Amino acid sequence: MKCSTPLFLLAPLALAALSLPTFLGPPASAATQIVEGGLDESMQTLQAGMKGLDKALGKSEIGKALELVSGMQKAAHEAKHGIPEKAATVTDAAEKAKFMSGYRLKLIELERGLLDVEAALIEGKVEDAQKALDTKVKPVKKSGHDAYKD
Ligand code: HEM
Repeated sequence: MKCSTPLFLLAPLALAALSLPTFLGPPASAATQIVEGGLDESMQTLQAGMKGLDKALGKSEIGKALELVSGMQKAAHEAKHGIPEKAATVTDAAEKAKFMSGYRLKLIELERGLLDVEAALIEGKVEDAQKALDTKVKPVKKSGHDAYKD
């Protein structure tokens, strides 16, 4: 069917549609806005997850362990987009950039370790999951805290 509406009447509508995102809310970058501090909640989730995982793996509770590791992955992702309080003490711009990329890479290391735990669990290999937790997750807590925690 042919549209009989003159083109000049449709143009304002098209323009309004183009500007819709402005009305719908902030751009995606603002949604992942970086907040200094505010890591405590993610860190508490990681802490509880690590304790729970040790227990669940000890009892070969794969479903429970998978649930916990997913929560830890989410917490690690959120922490990765935050700023540790210690960053405020680094004043030189180049040093601060180095500090922040190191921090982010450390959390990527943690995410990789958590993915290894998950992969082992999916394959039903509880021993491998425990090994990944002990060698790839727990040590990252220590090295992360040594470098980035006040
Ligand atoms: C499984 C691994 C980890 C666990 C269980 C863990 C646990 C915790 C806990 C319990 C706290 C104290 C939170 C509070 O005071 O309420 C904390 C704080 C903190 N953690 Fe972790 N953490 C882990 C990994 C990491 C990593 C990899 C980094 C850095 C790359 C990191 C950086 C920090 C920082 C910077 C703070 C202080 C909060 C701030 O400065 O805003 N953590 N963590």
